[in-house]
Amino acid sequence: MSPKPFTLTAAIDYANADPHIGHAYEKILADVIARFQRLCGRGVFFMTGVDQHGQKVEQAAARLGMDTQGFVDSVAARFRTLWETLGVAYDCWAATTHPLHQQIVCKVLRQLFSAGDLYKSTYRGFYSVRQEQFLTDKDRDATGKFGPEWGEIIFLEEGNWYFRLSKYLPWLSKFIETHSEFVIPAFRRTEITHAIQHWKQDLCISRPRSRLSWGIELPFDQEFVTYVWFDALISYLSFTGYLSEDPVEEGRFRQRWPALHILGKDIMIPAHAVYWPTMVHAMGFSDQQIPQLLVHGWWNFDGTKVSKSTGNTVDPFILASRYGPAALRYYLMRDISTGRDANFSEERLILLCNTELANGLGNLLNRTLSMVNLYLGGSLHPGFYSHDTNTIREQNRRSTSEYFLRMQSFEIDRAIMAIMDIVSRSNAFIEASSPWELYRKPKQRAKLAEVLATLHESIRLAASLLAPILPKESAAMLNQLGIEAIDFSHPDPTLRTSLAVSPPQPVFPKFP
Ligand code: MSP
Repeated sequence: MSPKPFTLTAAIDYANADPHIGHAYEKILADVIARFQRLCGRGVFFMTGVDQHGQKVEQAAARLGMDTQGFVDSVAARFRTLWETLGVAYDCWAATTHPLHQQIVCKVLRQLFSAGDLYKSTYRGFYSVRQEQFLTDKDRDATGKFGPEWGEIIFLEEGNWYFRLSKYLPWLSKFIETHSEFVIPAFRRTEITHAIQHWKQDLCISRPRSRLSWGIELPFDQEFVTYVWFDALISYLSFTGYLSEDPVEEGRFRQRWPALHILGKDIMIPAHAVYWPTMVHAMGFSDQQIPQLLVHGWWNFDGTKVSKSTGNTVDPFILASRYGPAALRYYLMRDISTGRDANFSEERLILLCNTELANGLGNLLNRTLSMVNLYLGGSLHPGFYSHDTNTIREQNRRSTSEYFLRMQSFEIDRAIMAIMDIVSRSNAFIEASSPWELYRKPKQRAKLAEVLATLHESIRLAASLLAPILPKESAAMLNQLGIEAIDFSHPDPTLRTSLAVSPPQPVFPKFP
């Protein structure tokens, strides 16, 4: 049996409008984590996709006068084009109108129905049309009103199917208490504990077909379709091979599961931290099989959340064409600390890309390659390292450890800073060792070769570590250095054979 892959999912986006930078951020974050795991030699299974059912989607299609399936397919294509543009390389695309998913949702529903975990009842109360959700008193704000985030609120009385979530709350409380690793960052755990403290209600898992037809029909009552969140959460199972009729795929599921779910703070409670663990627990999953949550913050613009429902969006297609996909990837990973919010600023994007990538790393590459070409005829040979260069190498080793620690705990911004430490150290080393002066003194030729070999090694290290964040630029740098990436399972970067470098080519543009 091959070792367990690192399975990660990024929330499936609503197929009711075009993607914005909030969506782009989450998928790039997932892609960077996936690529980092591969860098560490681990197999990876990365799933994302689109959430295509529900009222919001049906209404958006109707507004455009489009057939709903045609509409969701066209939105899915926009998302896929964006992921292709931004280099988000998922292994599996989860679109909830796919027949495989419909089949698994029905299997899960039948299983819960047979176990007595579903029942029919009548609800009388408030309902948020925007969130497609029944509201309770705990959804009121401090003034006793339902806040603007719920959009239009109507009073409803209707029969529906319910999942006996409340039956599993004692288990959930105990689980949260005893599994501190369930949610990352750890400070989110208190929010979950508070949310479930006074929780009493079961989960409504259906919508009457008379009101909403765009959904998966309940296999035991054709008057109803499945509530969009219940359907969407199950996508994590359908597309990883759960209950597959193909025994090979079923076996893969057992290896892949549990997953790490990446999602924003707005969908942690109740969906991912209350509905989802109780659903999988009711399906018979053990505590070890409950997925972990990595909860990120929001990108805001002018202080409010970038969101299509408020119209406060920033278009990633425009940014990628204006600055290139690498600049957008770099900025979205560099200027937010995972779990916290950040304010989107085009000026910051320009500033960070210009100072750190163009002036810092790009300049280092350019100067080093120019000097190797000019002073050493473009070749480097294995040599020795003296005290000075060994000091730099030791400091680089420390930055590398810092990078790995930060990446393993999903602190991508801090990991990038560790790479930038290597870059600034190397640029300072050029100034301190003045290779142009060593070149003028014939007796210093060995020293000159040693300095340039050390710089070459530092850039190789920085480029190798940058690979999960900027894969194409990392490869372009290594190509000019005339060497492959460092293999971090044997991380000794010492030059063992002679090599020829290329003339420098700009890798990072400078923006006006
Ligand atoms: N379809 C549901 C998720 C179902 S997962 C089983 C959904 N879709 S969404 O399109 O509204 O959001 C998708 C993801 O994008 C969520 O994780 C959400 O938190 C994230 N973001 C949406 N706006 C965001 C920002 N402004 N900033 C960062 N991420 C945010 O919810």
